[in-house]
Amino acid sequence: MIEHKLLRAIIALYHRVVLRLAILLVTTLVTANSLFNKVRMSHENGILLRGKLRIVDQPDIPEHDFFVPGAQFKCRLRHAAASFLDDAKLVVRSASIKFADARIDSPMDILMNSGNVPLFWNARTFIGFMWVSMRGRGKRYVPFLKRHPQAALGGGDSVRRTPEEVDKIIYNSKTVYGFIGKDGVYRYVRYRLRPVDPDISDDNQSGKPGDFDRNHAWLQNPAPGETRDRNYLKASTRARLRDGETFHYKLQIQLRLPPPDDYHQAQWVSGAVVWDESRFPFVDLADVTIDEALSYEESQLTYFDMGHHPASLPIPKGRSIDDPHSLNQLRLASVWARRIRLFSYRFGGIPKAFPDTRTDRTWEAIPPVEEPPPAA
Ligand code: HEM
Repeated sequence: MIEHKLLRAIIALYHRVVLRLAILLVTTLVTANSLFNKVRMSHENGILLRGKLRIVDQPDIPEHDFFVPGAQFKCRLRHAAASFLDDAKLVVRSASIKFADARIDSPMDILMNSGNVPLFWNARTFIGFMWVSMRGRGKRYVPFLKRHPQAALGGGDSVRRTPEEVDKIIYNSKTVYGFIGKDGVYRYVRYRLRPVDPDISDDNQSGKPGDFDRNHAWLQNPAPGETRDRNYLKASTRARLRDGETFHYKLQIQLRLPPPDDYHQAQWVSGAVVWDESRFPFVDLADVTIDEALSYEESQLTYFDMGHHPASLPIPKGRSIDDPHSLNQLRLASVWARRIRLFSYRFGGIPKAFPDTRTDRTWEAIPPVEEPPPAA
């Protein structure tokens, strides 16, 4: 019996050491990339907006010391594309909210991507994805997607092609966060940002891919004959706000109690598994109103960090590279890449915004696909 316990402790320690090493490796690589290339590891292409966030009067959640009914915050919201410097590519789109009008400091940041399920759901799958991204993306993704059908599903579910409006997309936090109410009970939560318009659903949101794109999400180039330029979406977002439009969103929250032993029930906490909304409905948490677009420079000097949160909204930690919470540790450690990116601007300034044209050297085509797998 004692031997069994000892063996289990050694195995647990081994898993934790492997996770630590993985975090060290990934953090070193992404930090070096941000330092030498002066870029965000992902989501470099984006636009920063400003407005207000107000916690709704009667949120249907347990009483909470941060989400106080009626509390108001100035906020920053950055909409971005997860990869490639081209608004017209088939890419994951994002919404990151800072509960403050500041470049860095904030009581709470929430980072969300389009789609319900992600391309990776723990440190192991993130490293696999990062490896193929480093090798050149496009066709390099194909073996990874074949090995992980769930990643192919997540990619197809999350990419958006040429959306017309950033405020007509639904964005999800994709990983599970902690929530400790005034009752002291620890719950798991997910967030999503959605347009106020109730008619916008999963199926009709802006840029939702058709069947072909969904099943070939690695073919990310603009569609043949695309006439929109590389910056069309940011330009139209800026123009709409300049013309006096305001964007209205609902920040929503989904809550559930953790199972007794969630480490052995990854389906409860994995970003790859959505929670049944008939049992765990998303409820309104805050109204977000956006009325201003900030400059490109301000966007580059701002970063969002999931390490910004009150103690009552903790970030669950993983115990191995297969534990879905391990993604959280990778994301927390990647604050070093954010800091170093800002530091890198001290040498030669902020890189210039990329131009509209696809003949510029900053435009990348994806490698051709030699052997596309059959549509899923
Ligand atoms: C499903 C999980 C994830 C989601 C939903 C997510 C979401 C996001 C979003 C929305 C942004 C853009 C922020 C902005 O507009 O400035 C971002 C940037 C970034 N993410 Fe993630 N991310 C995830 C996983 C990870 C992981 C595992 C890492 C680990 C290395 C990571 C590292 C970064 C870095 C370094 C940036 C650039 C930050 C900067 O330089 O300002 N992310 N992420």
